[in-house]
Amino acid sequence: MARRKKIYEGKAKILYEGPEPGTLVQYFKDDATAFNAEKHDVIEGKGVLNNRLSEFFMTGLNTIGVPTHFIKRINMREQLIRSVEIIPLEVVVRNVAAGSMSKRLGIEEGTQLPRPIIEFYYKDDALGDPLVTEEHVIAFGWASQQDLDDIVALALRVNDFLSGVMLAVGIKLIDFKIEIGRIWEGDFMRLIVADEISPDSCRLWDIKTGQKLDKDVFRRDLGNLTDAYTEVARRLGVLPSNVTHATKPTLIN
Ligand SMILES: Nc1ncnc2c1ncn2[C@@H]1O[C@H](COP(=O)(O)OP(=O)(O)OP(=O)(O)O)[C@@H](O)[C@H]1O
Ligand SMILES: [Mg+2]
Repeated sequence: MARRKKIYEGKAKILYEGPEPGTLVQYFKDDATAFNAEKHDVIEGKGVLNNRLSEFFMTGLNTIGVPTHFIKRINMREQLIRSVEIIPLEVVVRNVAAGSMSKRLGIEEGTQLPRPIIEFYYKDDALGDPLVTEEHVIAFGWASQQDLDDIVALALRVNDFLSGVMLAVGIKLIDFKIEIGRIWEGDFMRLIVADEISPDSCRLWDIKTGQKLDKDVFRRDLGNLTDAYTEVARRLGVLPSNVTHATKPTLIN
C-alpha cells in the first residue's frame, strides 16, 4: 500500500491526506504539551480518549445544526474530517475565571463571570499565541466583521451545548478553546468548527468536589491525566463503565 501523505504534524495531532478531495485524516497522538511546548510528555492513551471525545462532542454539535469538520471516526486514533482553511485564531469562551484570565486581571480562579466572555488569540507559536482584539483581527485581515459575528454566534452555541452536556454528568464547563475554518460550497463560504474539542482544549471541574478533569492536571502536576480523561469519557457514556485504561486483552462477543 502506498504511504499516505503527511500534510502537517502538530504538537498533539497529525493531518494526513484524506481518501477524497476536501477530506483529511486527523490522527491523535499521545503527546501532551503546555506553556507553548516548554513542558512535554507522552501520556499513554490520551490520543485514543481525545479521538473518542472529540467525535462525541462534534457529532452532538452536528446533530443540533452547528456545523463541524467531523465526518466519521476511522479507528482508535483517527477520524475523517473536512479540510478547511483554518482562521488563525484560538477562540476562547470563558464562563468562570481561570488560567491566564485570572492571572492577567487578578480575578480569583473559580469566580463566575457575569456572562460568557469570548477572547481571541492569534495562532502563532513564535509569539506565544498573543491575545488580540477584534480591531486587530479585522485590520490584519484574519477575519471580516461578518466572519467575527458568525464566529461569536458559533462559539456561544458551542458553549451552550457543551455546558449542558457536561452539567448533565456533574461537570462544570469553566472555559474552552475552538478553532474555526472556512469551507467553500460553490461561491459560498461557510465557517465551521474544526480542530478538536476534548479535555485538552477545555477546563472541566467536577461540580461536587471541584476536581480538575482536564489538561490542567498535566500543566499543574495534579495527578494522572489519563485517569481524568477516562473519567470524563466514562461519565459521558463514551466508554463502557467497567473499562479502565489497563490494556489487558478483552473478549468481545
Ligand atoms: N479541518 C481541518 N482542516 C485543516 N486543518 C485543520 C483542521 N482541523 C484542525 N486543523 C489544524 O491541524 C493542526 C492540528 O494539529 P495540532 O493541534 O497538533 O497543532 P498544534 O501543535 O496545536 O499547532 P497549531 O499552532 O498549528 O495549532 C492545527 O494546526 C489545526 O489548526
Ligand atoms: Mg492544536
